[in-house]
Amino acid sequence: MSHPARSSASARSGSPTLTPQDLIRCKRDGERLTNDQMAEFVEGVTSGRFSEGQIAAMLMAMYLKGLSMEETCSLTHAMLHSGDVLDLSTVPGCKVDKHSTGGVGDKISLILAPWVAAAGVPVPMISGRGLGHTGGTLDKLEAIPGFRTDLSAERFRKQVESVGLAIIGQSERLAPADRILYALRDATATVENLSLICASILSKKLAEGIDALVLDVKFGRGAFMKEMPAARQLAQALVDISRGMGKPTSALLTAMEEPLGHTAGNGVEVAETVACLRGEGPADVMEVTRALALEMLRMAEIESDDAGRLALLEQVLGSGAALERFQRFVVAQGGDGSVADHPEKALPPARVCLEVRAPQSAGAGFVHGVDALAIGRAAVVLGAGRKRNGDAVDPAAGVSSIIKAGTPVRPGDLLCRLHASNEAAAEAARDLCLEGIVFSDVIPAKIPLIAERIG
Ligand code: URA
Repeated sequence: MSHPARSSASARSGSPTLTPQDLIRCKRDGERLTNDQMAEFVEGVTSGRFSEGQIAAMLMAMYLKGLSMEETCSLTHAMLHSGDVLDLSTVPGCKVDKHSTGGVGDKISLILAPWVAAAGVPVPMISGRGLGHTGGTLDKLEAIPGFRTDLSAERFRKQVESVGLAIIGQSERLAPADRILYALRDATATVENLSLICASILSKKLAEGIDALVLDVKFGRGAFMKEMPAARQLAQALVDISRGMGKPTSALLTAMEEPLGHTAGNGVEVAETVACLRGEGPADVMEVTRALALEMLRMAEIESDDAGRLALLEQVLGSGAALERFQRFVVAQGGDGSVADHPEKALPPARVCLEVRAPQSAGAGFVHGVDALAIGRAAVVLGAGRKRNGDAVDPAAGVSSIIKAGTPVRPGDLLCRLHASNEAAAEAARDLCLEGIVFSDVIPAKIPLIAERIG
């Protein structure tokens, strides 16, 4: 039996007219939930009026019956307003953030935020921790001695104003409905739904008080979305919903077949970040970072054309202004600023360092591919990521000197270096790396890193 959509001033007045069972029944029977019904559901989640079982049932009904674009916008809006929404209106300029769906060796936020801040775009960034085989910006930054990611909302706002960027973790008060819903989605096999993913990502991003958003949606072996069509669908949905909620948004679809750059881990990625900001970064990291930076400058209407924007980006990188901004940002968040001058001295060293070399079977040929998933898993085994939510990560753990696809190779050549706290972890990671690095006697075809732009 279905129920007509009843009045819904209730969610606003705080007196629900539908029981949790009524709301679940509506969705179970394929009806569309109104704006106010969606608000009632989300209020029920955060207030505890819905039991865990009822939330799980609603999530499964949403997963199976799907949500329309209007319902997805209503859900995103309700989740966004389930907690604090930061007000950065007193900070001058167009505040732009970047969100990545996650990858291996993805240190782009660490480079991008100070780079575009030095070019005049304020960046308020709320980031996450490592998830599965993909690394997390907060874990990487916390490899810097003293660095804090738990600033108050007021300190965050002041730092965006004075330094031009701040990167912190999600507080309890930001989109709290997502925390509850995400944990239950994880437990009930309802994560893989486009509407639920979009509402989850955007409710957190839009709570930052940004004016515009740039998305890096990754596809490939090391990405959340393995196939490009699925990544394109996610990117399009994120762009449409975010724009539907009044935020100019664009997305790049970028390849995540092999790790970005030569490192995957925490401290090792900070060291590579410094190299990038010195203008000595690997070509793939710089290509993706530059493309995202250009998007952010476009959003903020810095310079009148792309040629001017690219010239400005090269100027702030070449002059050292981007590196200097990174240093100010690190110091402002309590970190050791000398990391910008001597990362090898400031970052914690690993107890064990193991070199992985090409086996005899590699012959004299080329690296055909470096599997981002295998390297990401190796980084987790080394201690750079988490096996379970809440596990501690080792700031010194990771993989460095990762060889790139297309490099000529002979038996005995260095493929990568493993940094671990113990021999057993290093040996387990070595097996994963050797499985993931494939050789051939012809140069592999180059995969374009930036496949598409949506927006
Ligand atoms: N990342 C999120 O924040 N939420 C999802 O649902 C999936 C990825």
